[in-house]
Amino acid sequence: MIHIYFACVFLFVDTVFSGHVGTPIKTNDRPIIGVLAQDVFNPRPHRNSFIAASYVKFLESAGARVVPLMINKTDDEYTRLFKSINGVLFPGGGVSLKTSGYSKAATVFYRLALEANSNGDYFPVWGTCLGFELLTLLTSGELLLSHTNTSGVALPLNFTADVRDSRLFKDFPVDLMESLASDPLTENSHQWSVTTEKFTKNEKLKNFYRVLSTNTDGQNEFVSTVEAYDFPIYATQWHPEKNAFEWTRPYIPHTPPAVKTTFYTASFFVNEARKSFHSFASVEEEKKALIYNYKPEYTGTQSAFEQIYYFD
Ligand SMILES: *[C@@H]1O[C@H](CO)[C@@H](O)[C@H](O)[C@H]1NC(C)=O
Ligand SMILES: *[C@@H]1O[C@H](CO)[C@@H](O)[C@H](O)[C@H]1NC(C)=O
Ligand SMILES: *[C@@H]1O[C@H](CO)[C@@H](O)[C@H](O)[C@H]1NC(C)=O
Repeated sequence: MIHIYFACVFLFVDTVFSGHVGTPIKTNDRPIIGVLAQDVFNPRPHRNSFIAASYVKFLESAGARVVPLMINKTDDEYTRLFKSINGVLFPGGGVSLKTSGYSKAATVFYRLALEANSNGDYFPVWGTCLGFELLTLLTSGELLLSHTNTSGVALPLNFTADVRDSRLFKDFPVDLMESLASDPLTENSHQWSVTTEKFTKNEKLKNFYRVLSTNTDGQNEFVSTVEAYDFPIYATQWHPEKNAFEWTRPYIPHTPPAVKTTFYTASFFVNEARKSFHSFASVEEEKKALIYNYKPEYTGTQSAFEQIYYFD
């Protein structure tokens, strides 16, 4: 106990034990996760880019703090931030996967994450919806999207046999896994998907990601959850953050198991970030970077998001 106490006070690093005996695993219990901003459709003064607040709440709900990653910054600036944060989340949205500030920044963070992880420096990456699509592009080098009729629908996950050995779902309760497989808990807001066929025919994707679930729009089956085999890289075509935090659309599920899905997913990813030991050069620099420096606006009356952070 004393050991844990001192570790906590002096290093901000806690020590947990796997089981009652065994090797202590060091964790960083003050994880900070970068959430990537994206270009707004109609820029206005002080409103050139944004982050939907639900992604921030999602991560905060599991014990992380958030740093907004602004678009159009230099590679040097992204590298400096990369060394300061413990994971990155690419949110959903509606910008170009090839030319937007969002895709350019994500390309840099993805490359840095591959490099770091290859050198034993653990750094997790999460992609949601557009973030999922972008990760498939970054991994394969190809845009493999097909149109699907999935722009506003909750679906049950069709789990693959590989889900049993997955890292992502390993700690989900059995009853929640049953609900996810049988009830429409996961919300889809996308017109484009990577079909199972295109995914499995692409050697780069197939060899990089383990497919954990698929879905169908009635015509085409598409991949809906993946985790990389050898990297802490995860992506869902569906929106885990919406169940607990977005209310503007009638098809977003808010049942107890749907809301639990938000929290178990967040908890999984934040635990991944606890394995990263990057940190800001100083407490002052950390304070200046945190999203607490910005105020979300209530936008639920005219937008799909209840609250949005806008940036210059
Ligand atoms: C980002 O750069 C693009 C051009 O590359 C520009 O159109 C856009 O206004 C910039 N956005 C921000 C927030 O700097
Ligand atoms: C698209 O899916 C919705 C259900 O989510 C269904 O009502 C509609 O008929 C579908 N449209 C087409 C063109 O298949
Ligand atoms: C689930 O996926 C399997 C394998 O692709 C497929 O055979 C099955 O029809 C799918 N089930 C549903 C309900 O989509």
